[in-house]
Amino acid sequence: MSDFILAPSILSADFSCLGEEVENVVAAGADWVHFDVMDNHYVPNLTVGPLVCAALRPRTEAPIDVHLMVEPVDRLIPEFARAGANLVTFHPEASRHIDRTLCLIRDQGCQAGLAFNPATPLTYMDHVMDRLDLVLLMSVNPGFGGQSFIPATLEKLRAARMKLDAYAQQSGRRIRLEVDGGIKPENIAQIAHAGADAFVVGSAVFGAGQESDPHRYDSILHTLRERLK
Ligand code: DX5
Ligand code: ZN
Repeated sequence: MSDFILAPSILSADFSCLGEEVENVVAAGADWVHFDVMDNHYVPNLTVGPLVCAALRPRTEAPIDVHLMVEPVDRLIPEFARAGANLVTFHPEASRHIDRTLCLIRDQGCQAGLAFNPATPLTYMDHVMDRLDLVLLMSVNPGFGGQSFIPATLEKLRAARMKLDAYAQQSGRRIRLEVDGGIKPENIAQIAHAGADAFVVGSAVFGAGQESDPHRYDSILHTLRERLK
């Protein structure tokens, strides 16, 4: 078993049968279920909230990786914790008090993540490393699935990897480095090589195969995993 995490984003799944989609994608080998929360305020799109997370919780034992693209952030954290979220990640621009929000996530029993838009500087993590379990680099602008990977993310990834490795050496604690947006079989190896160890994959996974086939995600997840070897 490799140490890379594949986290299919259900944003591109069939919302009329989300429970089955989650079961099928986990059966096909997904490590985490990436759950995109958009509020039509922080990002120009509207998706799902804690109610849907709670409905999916009994369908899988895989960790639910909640990506909050909402503003404000804090009020929703206890709700997602109650709904069974395992990891909760937010964008620093959307919180007035980043340190407080990170503490709140851990106090609620979840792992805490900070998400960086393409133009958001990595310095936001510098004074809160001890409070972080996950760093998420956006490789598209947040709001929509199916966009193209922004190549400048690779350089930013290498910089983030250096920071996280230096921190791991000094603290003995590992922070995951996740990338989100435009990941395909064609570029996943390059993204891993630049330092990522967790990969959000939306349209590439949920666009695969024939709708009637419950095993339609096996082959794409297998392919992505092979490219990481
Ligand atoms: C974008 C979301 C992503 C998105 C990824 O705002 O955060 O998780 O669903 O989808 P793809 O893989 O299609 O770019
Ligand atoms: Zn996401």
